[in-house]
Amino acid sequence: MTNSIAIDGPAGAGKSTIAKLLAKELSYIYVDTGAMYRAMAIYFNENKVDPDDEAAVSKACENVNIDIEYKDGVQQVILNGTNVTHLLREEATGKMASKTSKYRAVRTKLVDLQRELARKNAVIMDGRDIGSVVLKDAFLKIFLTASSDARAKRRYDELIAKGEVADFEVIKKDIEDRDYQDSHREISPLKQAEDAVLVDSSNMTIEEVVAHIKNLIDQRK
Ligand code: C5P
Repeated sequence: MTNSIAIDGPAGAGKSTIAKLLAKELSYIYVDTGAMYRAMAIYFNENKVDPDDEAAVSKACENVNIDIEYKDGVQQVILNGTNVTHLLREEATGKMASKTSKYRAVRTKLVDLQRELARKNAVIMDGRDIGSVVLKDAFLKIFLTASSDARAKRRYDELIAKGEVADFEVIKKDIEDRDYQDSHREISPLKQAEDAVLVDSSNMTIEEVVAHIKNLIDQRK
């Protein structure tokens, strides 16, 4: 656990892109914890569990089993025996994940799984509470952020490049709502750990962020 790297920050700050590139360079395993909350959300959506009903969500957790596997170095999320990786990024899944990640039953289950992965492997793990809760003794903690304008612009450009319809203001509002929910929940809210290094990527390219973090790693060796 002590050689692990934690990257936390709000939605759309570029955590997964950066973490994947760093994992490749360092021969680490990349663990995307948001994908686990999303897999639970798929179960809740499929089974019409009310996200506002904590007792119902907690009960449903008893029937959910999440496993993580790696295929050609890419994380696969297995929900009750079925690979759901291709469904994780759907909008409805993200919304349900954000609403249900505030419950203790959901978090306890996934934090245990995350710690087990970090015990067995050299990991670079991204999420919201990795430096502050999951891997408190991580070798390096990064809090990666960017303005909501910069994050919305990146998401907008991504959608347009894919030929999809996109509305900048709607995307920005979604991002700000998610930030609010994630940082105002009672259990493990999104916040910078005291010993985390703040990196604001608003005016940085992906390559610059990766190089900056690699420097930080080298300085600590
Ligand atoms: O990062 P991603 O957008 O995939 O995460 C989906 C949701 O899962 C977030 O909005 C957040 O509510 C939740 N999450 C969390 N803790 C983590 C990772 C994600 O609460 N470590």
